[in-house]
Amino acid sequence: MSSEPTFISDLKGVGPSTASKLKEAGFTTIEFISVTPKKEIIEKTGIGEDTATNLIQNMREVLGLELMTAQELFEKRQLAKRITTASKNLDKLLGDGIETQAITEFVGEYGTGKSQICMQLCVTAQQSFEQGGLGGKILFIDTEGTFAPQRINDVAKARGLEPKKILENIIYARCYNIDHQILLVDKASKIVEEEKVKLIVVDSLVSHFRGEYVGREMLSERQQKLNQHIHRLLRLAEFYNCAVVITNQIQSNPTQVFGDPNRPAGGNIVAHASTHRIYIRKGKLNTRIAHVIDSPYLPGDETRFAITGMGIEDTEEN
Ligand SMILES: Nc1ncnc2c1ncn2[C@@H]1O[C@H](COP(=O)(O)OP(=O)(O)OP(=O)(O)O)[C@@H](O)[C@H]1O
Ligand SMILES: [Mg+2]
Repeated sequence: MSSEPTFISDLKGVGPSTASKLKEAGFTTIEFISVTPKKEIIEKTGIGEDTATNLIQNMREVLGLELMTAQELFEKRQLAKRITTASKNLDKLLGDGIETQAITEFVGEYGTGKSQICMQLCVTAQQSFEQGGLGGKILFIDTEGTFAPQRINDVAKARGLEPKKILENIIYARCYNIDHQILLVDKASKIVEEEKVKLIVVDSLVSHFRGEYVGREMLSERQQKLNQHIHRLLRLAEFYNCAVVITNQIQSNPTQVFGDPNRPAGGNIVAHASTHRIYIRKGKLNTRIAHVIDSPYLPGDETRFAITGMGIEDTEEN
């Protein structure tokens, strides 16, 4: 999260071979390594356990990361910024827009507008601070092949922006399977840092995990991988002060007799790691209803917005 990251090469006691293994695995700054679980560093880089233990300890000492006061934490949180969704009502529901240093998860059935919100954010995140953006680039990880540059082009044009410029600032990755998805996020710190990315989108987070790990016997391995993956995203959000937006489809559970049989996919792992979980359902015509279903500080309110030629907008419809 530091505005001046410390590079591994600056650290005494790290040999060139370890440094290159770390870099190769996407660990470019010591701030980022110091908060990654040891097991994950070993797995991803192939360095030995003792080297990893020393490395983490060494880095934490350099950074003085062990303890901070609540006031320091408060100050760090004050650095969190917001990206407008282009709907004042939706922004208000989210506590003034999509926040950085956090994961915001949109859940809902097909066609409820999850991808539309992501694409809208690709435009607004680039706008100036005064216009509700962060003037940053976007890293868009598309696991379902539904990202539509034409739609971004149209929305940008309708808002009087230069579409070519907007499209050029979106770093796009079409992702075909779990390993690819994990690799992309593992390597993301380099891109986020170098390209000044302020928004990372994963649309959708869980679809490959659901498709590739089928059956009860694979559940635990799947959840373990998913857990590592989503925590990596959270660390990116916290360290680079950028926003992470993920989408998740509603999973129907026909065996559930009581309560809502439609639950977001990914189970408790995704529910716990997402900072804010927003449920979207269809309203009349082109309107949608958004509802905060889980958040440490947002009230569980509801609001409406519309999907139009402009992208996401407020609506008069009730
Ligand atoms: N150009 C447009 N103008 C107005 N509305 C549009 C436009 N393009 C898309 N939409 C609306 O957005 C809907 C699709 O939303 P979106 O693709 O974001 O759903 P989703 O929640 O991501 O679904 P899935 O779970 O299948 O990925 C369409 O059904 C339509 O109502
Ligand atoms: Mg979608």
